[in-house]
Amino acid sequence: MSVYVNNAATSWPKPECVPKAVFDFMTGRGANLARGAAAKRDVDTLDMVMECREALADLFCGYRDCDPRYVTFTSNVTESLNVVLKGYLRPGMTVATTSMEHNAVIRPLRALEKKGINLEIIKCDDRGRLDPRSLELLIESKTIDMVVIAHGSNLCGVIQDVKSVGKICKDKGVPFVLDTAQTAGVIHISASDLGLSALCFTGHKGLMGPQGIGGIVWEPSFAEKCSPFVEGGTGSFSDEEYQPTRMPDKFEAGTPNLPAIAGLLAAVRWIEETGIETIHSREKELGERLLKGLIHMKGIEFHGPSDMENRLPVFAVNFDCVDNGTLAGELADMGIETRPGLHCAPLAHKTLGSFPQGALRLSVGYFNTEEDVDSTLNQLSRLVDR
Ligand SMILES: Cc1ncc(COP(=O)(O)O)c(C=O)c1O
Repeated sequence: MSVYVNNAATSWPKPECVPKAVFDFMTGRGANLARGAAAKRDVDTLDMVMECREALADLFCGYRDCDPRYVTFTSNVTESLNVVLKGYLRPGMTVATTSMEHNAVIRPLRALEKKGINLEIIKCDDRGRLDPRSLELLIESKTIDMVVIAHGSNLCGVIQDVKSVGKICKDKGVPFVLDTAQTAGVIHISASDLGLSALCFTGHKGLMGPQGIGGIVWEPSFAEKCSPFVEGGTGSFSDEEYQPTRMPDKFEAGTPNLPAIAGLLAAVRWIEETGIETIHSREKELGERLLKGLIHMKGIEFHGPSDMENRLPVFAVNFDCVDNGTLAGELADMGIETRPGLHCAPLAHKTLGSFPQGALRLSVGYFNTEEDVDSTLNQLSRLVDR
């Protein structure tokens, strides 16, 4: 038996078109980007990368009629966040975030703090929810130069009220940066409606693409204010010794992960065909089934929201009789793949009261079945009973 309930780490399996597109690119095309002589293979690569930018700009409702040049490719959302945070924040500025963030936000901010940037961490409640009013009060009490938060928690699935946060930031003129690692491809997100300065995404989770690709959808005037994180060859303006300021070249030095872009394009097309609403309601259905089974288990301690309202199907639990690491190991021996421990989110665990022991995380995805959920619940309760 094999049951994969670790989709918050990376989605699996991928739609069949995704590995096929990676294979087809590597075997049939494979030319570098803007580093050839306009042979057919060169033009095909250029078109494929532009088509992927356009598909992402459309998916996330980018700015200026979804201008695809304002979609930057990176390796993952961690890199995207580093590009944005380190490209914009300067000593003396103050950045606000929450106590539910992944280390992809917290670690760059802690590093920036050492360089003279002030950090304000707003405490979320013990279910992981941010009260937008506390952000508003903070912005009213001092100058905040940027707000950066995760849309959905990788630990307990809570979805933050980004609509209210976006409105507050817009009214107060504060740049708003969103980490969509857990929500992109699963929930409809409009960068322009939310007033985002930068939407940071990773390709390998809800977007169903390969690992090693992520990106940023920029609000154009904000992109102009950020300095590039990496400088080097872009295949353009080769007479220049300085990094081009034109998009998308400004933030994309070096050869990108072209096979992964091919896979991501196929994945986004698959999402368009399947429909985000269909994906979301299927995941919610599976989440409800898992939640119903978990909540009544003997000796369970449930971290995060205990209903499916505004949450992802990502659950963090502990049992009073057994360590979460031992449990995850025994489940793995039975072919059930979960994730124990601290999930790169120590502050979030502190917020939910599960630090330092961490928790057992179970996360279902679109390709799970009712049988997957039931056998996970059965094996889990057998282990706990034992
Ligand atoms: C909320 C959140 N932010 C950031 C990340 C980092 O993602 P990546 O490793 O793809 O950069 C994750 C991954 O689990 C996440 O869940």
